[in-house]
Amino acid sequence: MDATRITISTPEDQDALLALYPRAFPEEELTGLVAALLSHPDVLSLTAWTGLSIAGHAALTRCSVTESDARVALLGPLCVAPEAQRQGLGRALIEEAAHQLEAEGVSAMLVLGDPDYYALCGFDQVSPVEPPYPLKPEWRDAWRMRTLSPQAPERGTLQVPAPWEDPALWS
Ligand SMILES: CC(C)(COP(=O)(O)OP(=O)(O)OC[C@H]1O[C@@H](n2cnc3c(N)ncnc32)[C@H](O)[C@@H]1OP(=O)(O)O)[C@@H](O)C(=O)NCCC(=O)NCCS
Repeated sequence: MDATRITISTPEDQDALLALYPRAFPEEELTGLVAALLSHPDVLSLTAWTGLSIAGHAALTRCSVTESDARVALLGPLCVAPEAQRQGLGRALIEEAAHQLEAEGVSAMLVLGDPDYYALCGFDQVSPVEPPYPLKPEWRDAWRMRTLSPQAPERGTLQVPAPWEDPALWS
């Protein structure tokens, strides 16, 4: 396999990143959300490369939590190109995000996604922080938290910026 590396996304990456999502998630329309996140000041955007090709992406939105001073980040979306999946890129993106966010004082990452996958990537706790909109009952196990520091919140509700203020993204 070509050498892999992860960089902070630049505006030059945008077209390739937007083109990844319909390939990784053919049944979901995420382009509008991803475009909004790429230009949002509170978002850490990471690009994964295999050789000279963009092969994966993670967006992490820095958020606050009610009833807590803790700073947290919402992971999503995360995607890896079909031909590059199951080679460790998704996990590498999550680990790089955890490393960078912990260094800036973010205490936990939250995610709404495949519980089997995210449990393997350290999201081993059903989140004590409530999501910003009600979830379908069958999605409760998909709402998870990965603690990065002892300051991680123990209660409260996630407060999200504009790109995530759409109940349809949560139900
Ligand atoms: C889900 C996704 C981000 C994972 O990225 P990836 O680079 O393929 O995954 P990794 O190689 O880092 O896998 C890490 C571990 O998770 C496992 N894994 C990978 N995809 C998995 C999945 N969909 N379900 C359960 N486990 C999975 C791997 O086998 C690996 O386990 P191991 O360390 O024991 O070998 C990527 O496959 C993707 O974009 N898929 C399309 C969209 C999708 O299905 N999303 C669902 C999650 S919201």
